[in-house]
Amino acid sequence: MRAVELDGKRESAFIFNNWYIAGTGGDITGEPLARRICDIPLVLFRTRSGAVAALEDRCAHRGMALSAGGKCLGETIQCPYHGLEFDTGGICVRIPGLERVSPDMRIRSFPVVEKDAVVWIWMGDAAGADPARIPSHPYHSDSSYVWSRGVLEVNANWEFLNDNLLDLTHVQYAHRNTIGGNPDEDARAQIKVQRNGRRVVLTRWLRDTACPPFHKQLYGFKGRIDRVQEVEFTPGYIFLHSSSMDVGDSVDEGWRRKGMHFYQMHAITPQTPTRTLYMFTMSRNFKTEDRALTEQIHALSMRTFEEDKAMLEVQQARCTEYPDIPLVATKHDTATAQARRIVREMMAEEVAGDQRSGSGVKDLPRPVGTAAVNNLRA
Ligand code: FES
Ligand SMILES: [Fe+2]
Repeated sequence: MRAVELDGKRESAFIFNNWYIAGTGGDITGEPLARRICDIPLVLFRTRSGAVAALEDRCAHRGMALSAGGKCLGETIQCPYHGLEFDTGGICVRIPGLERVSPDMRIRSFPVVEKDAVVWIWMGDAAGADPARIPSHPYHSDSSYVWSRGVLEVNANWEFLNDNLLDLTHVQYAHRNTIGGNPDEDARAQIKVQRNGRRVVLTRWLRDTACPPFHKQLYGFKGRIDRVQEVEFTPGYIFLHSSSMDVGDSVDEGWRRKGMHFYQMHAITPQTPTRTLYMFTMSRNFKTEDRALTEQIHALSMRTFEEDKAMLEVQQARCTEYPDIPLVATKHDTATAQARRIVREMMAEEVAGDQRSGSGVKDLPRPVGTAAVNNLRA
C-alpha cells in the first residue's frame, strides 16, 4: 500500500482496500481506456469473450502506456511500442519474434467485477477483494425503471464530493437556478443520521409541503406532497433515493413504495488527491417510455452537477491556498463527520497494516490541500 508523510505523521492519501466504480454501462469496450484511480494509471478493456480487465498502464518491457495506442486482440492487449501481448491477468503471453517469455515479464492486474451494468475495481491487495461486499443496484436491470448516465471530472478531493452529497442544505443555495426550492420550507425537514459499519445513512423527511412545479409536471400531483430523501454513503459511492407522494402516503414505510421515485448512483472515484471522477446514473419509475422526458431530466441533472463541480473546484483551490487552517463544521455536517470518520478509520487501518507487514510503502507527492481536507472535523 502507498502512504504519505503529512506533517510528520504517516497518512494515506486514499483507501486502496476498497471497491470503486471504474465505469458504467458501455464505458469499457474493446478500445483500451485510460483511467487513473488512487493515483495509479490503469488501462481497462473488454476482451472478445466479454470479460473486463484492468491492468497497470505501464508495459513491463520499456514502460510504455498500453492505453496510448495499444490494441485489444481477442483475450489480450498488445503494447503499441514493440508489440508484446499481455493477458487479463497481466502476464505476457507473446513477444513477437521470440519463442520464450520470461515469467518476470508481467504487470499488475486488478480485480474487477461487473454487476448491474457497473464495473467495480479493487485497488488494494487482491487477497482482500471480496465480491460479496459489492452492493446491488437493481434499477439498472429492472424493466419498471429507465436510467441515464453522466460523467464529470472534478478538480477537487473526493471527500469534498462526499461532503456535498451528505449535506443537502446546499441545494437551496448552490442550485437556486436548477433544483433549489424554498429555503424556509426546507429548513423544517426532519433528519436522521445512522452509522452502520462502513455506511452512513442520512434520511430527510419533508411532510406536507408545497409541490414544486417540476414535480407537478412530471407526475401530475394535485396538491401538497410528502418528500423523502435517503442518502446512503459508503467510501467510493453514494446511493440517493428521492421520492415524492401524496400527503400521508409516506407513513409506515409507504415512501418506499408509493409515488414517484428516483434512484441515483453517484460514483466518487478518486483519481489524484485533487481530482475525482464523478459518474452518476439516474433511474426513475414513471413515464419510462418517454424518451424526451429522459433527456430533459438528464440535461437538468447535468446542469445541477455542473453547479456542484464549479463550487467544489473553487473550494478546492481556496483550501489549497490555505492548507493548514481547519474547517469548522455545523450541526448539518453530522453525516459528513461520520463519513469522514469512516474514511480516516479505513486509512489508518491500511497504514497500520503496511507498517506491520513492512510491505512496499511508496511515498506519493504531498497531496496539495489534503491537510485542509483532513482538518474538517465535526
Ligand atoms: S515497451 Fe511495451 S513492448 Fe516494448
Ligand atoms: Fe449539489
